[in-house]
Amino acid sequence: ASVPVLTIDGPSGSGKGTVSRLVAARLGWHYLDSGALYRAVGIAAGWSDIDLSDASALVRCAFDTDIAFRDDGSGELRVIVNGTDATDELRTETAGAAASAIAAIPEVRAALKERQRAFRRPPGLVADGRDMGTVIFPDAPYKVFLTASAEERAERRYKQLKEKGVSVTMDGLLREILARDARDASRAVAPLRPASDAVLIDTTGLPVEAVVARVLDLVSRPT
Ligand code: C5P
Repeated sequence: ASVPVLTIDGPSGSGKGTVSRLVAARLGWHYLDSGALYRAVGIAAGWSDIDLSDASALVRCAFDTDIAFRDDGSGELRVIVNGTDATDELRTETAGAAASAIAAIPEVRAALKERQRAFRRPPGLVADGRDMGTVIFPDAPYKVFLTASAEERAERRYKQLKEKGVSVTMDGLLREILARDARDASRAVAPLRPASDAVLIDTTGLPVEAVVARVLDLVSRPT
C-alpha cells in the first residue's frame, strides 16, 4: 500500500500550521510545510537581487535553492536556506507576500513539485499548504480544508508575529491577509480551493485542541 498522506489546506491564519504540526507529532508522521518552500525561494531570490518579475531567474532559483528543515526540539521547525537559518525572516508578512507573488508562476510551482512529493515517506505525511489535496497529493486518503473568518485569521497572525517581536498593526495585517488570499484564490494555476473530497472545518472560535481532535478522528476512520 502507498504511504498515507493527510493534506491540510486553507488560507493564511486558518490554523493549518499549528494543527498540522500537532497532528503530525501525535501520529508520528512526517510534516511538510509547503508554504515555507515558497517563502524560502522568495527570500533566496531577494538575497540574489532577483526581481519578482523575472520569471526565468525565479524558476532557476526554485530549482537551486537549498532548503532544509531542522527540528530544534521547541516544536518549531527551523528553516535553513542555502546554509543560513532564515526562520525569522521567513515568518514576516513581507516574505509571505513575496512567496504569494512567485507562487503564481506555474513553472515555479512545477519546480517545487517533486521536492514536495519526496516528503511522502513511511509511516505517513501531514502536508500543509494551499494545493496539497488538489495538485500535489490528489490521491491522499485524508483531506482537510480549514477556514476561519478573516478577522480571526488576522488576529492569530497578529499574536504570532507579536510573540516573535515583529511590529505590525491589526489593520495593516488584515489588509495584507485579504490581499494575499485574493491573489492565492484567483490565480490560474493551483488556486486556493478545497479538493472536492476534502472535509471542511471552520475553525472560527474553536480552540486548537478541538480542531486537532476532529482531524485525528478523521484519520482514525477506515477509508
Ligand atoms: O502557508 P504560508 O502562509 O507560509 O504560504 C505563503 C504563500 O505561499 C501563500 O500565500 C501562497 O501564495 C504560497 N503557497 C502556495 N502553495 C502552497 C503553499 C503556499 O501557493 N502549497
